[in-house]
Amino acid sequence: KEILHLLSIFFVLAAPAPALAPPNRTGRGCPPLYREAFVLSGYRPVGLPWRCYVLSLFQIHNDSVKVWCPLLAALYVATRLLLFVVLQGGVSIVFYTHKTYYLQPLGMCFLSLSLAAALLLHPRSEPVRLSLFLLDSAGRGLHQFGRALALSVYSSDADWTDSIMGQLYLPAAAVLSWLSCTAGCCGELFPRHCDLSHRRLLQMGPMSLAFLLDISPVAQRLYSCPWSSSTAVLLHVLHFVLQVVLFLTAAFFLLCPVPECLSPGRFDIAGHSGQLSLVLLTLSTVSQQEALLRDFSWRRAGVVRRFGEEYLLKACAGFIAVTLSLPATALVLRRCGILARSTR
Ligand SMILES: *[C@@H]1O[C@H](CO)[C@@H](O)[C@H](O)[C@H]1NC(C)=O
Ligand SMILES: *[C@@H]1O[C@H](CO)[C@@H](O)[C@H](O)[C@H]1NC(C)=O
Repeated sequence: KEILHLLSIFFVLAAPAPALAPPNRTGRGCPPLYREAFVLSGYRPVGLPWRCYVLSLFQIHNDSVKVWCPLLAALYVATRLLLFVVLQGGVSIVFYTHKTYYLQPLGMCFLSLSLAAALLLHPRSEPVRLSLFLLDSAGRGLHQFGRALALSVYSSDADWTDSIMGQLYLPAAAVLSWLSCTAGCCGELFPRHCDLSHRRLLQMGPMSLAFLLDISPVAQRLYSCPWSSSTAVLLHVLHFVLQVVLFLTAAFFLLCPVPECLSPGRFDIAGHSGQLSLVLLTLSTVSQQEALLRDFSWRRAGVVRRFGEEYLLKACAGFIAVTLSLPATALVLRRCGILARSTR
């Protein structure tokens, strides 16, 4: 019955779809800002009403896979977390003492939804595109900081926490998340100075640094414990290796327009490099979530004792400060960008 209900909603939404302008087969007439090298077709027309872009969720176009990938990831992460909380019982108590953990899947869901919205709605107009991608940059920074926070609390060892590295970890993560957000915003704000490959490089640099920093407590812990001691540790190592390999392949595809440069036009709908890198990156993030959830379910009892309520509260305050500063940065940069453009 539920499925029938869902299907009927789907049909109501999808019914007007044939009336929508179909994705432009040729891509001719599409503004250069929207063009990507070696992707020749599948572009949606620019400047249609909002409704058309919302409904293009059910159409096949060059960004379909990219829109559905974060949506499905967010759905998966939210469901997994909900099931976990329900099975453990006592939502409120668990949430209260372990905010530092829960902020992280929330950040991930926020990032996924903002990314999906940006990819779905951006052809509407240039200012809309700008705002959506600035929001997405802020979301990315937020997700990075949330992840660093959760990893430093739930996946680290006591030795690491007391080391210099452990002390500097959160401030460094905050700086990197701010840098990520700023670099992403600048790439969007100055498209004439920054073509697509530069924009991708700008996105990749801070993101890779943040990834390296974020996984350092896990790497240290796995390095210092005997690997053959239990299957649990082995599973953890596998998860870790998987994350790193997925991230590296995603970075490769983000920086090189393979495979579409080999055969322009053939990978327009499925298989171009931007799409592959997004899928791989999402899988890497989901794998990281799984490992963190496992750590959380085994080690959370010891965490409050080890860090004390005060530290956890301070960490949350840091998260709130980052949450407020990232959108503020995006807004300020947006103003500067618009001023720079209008004086030129
Ligand atoms: C897909 O089309 C949109 C416009 O509809 C464009 O902005 C975007 O860059 C295209 N994506 C790729 C990978 O070509
Ligand atoms: C769509 O393609 C046609 C050519 O087939 C072109 O004349 C038109 O300007 C294109 N529209 C957009 C918005 O890309």
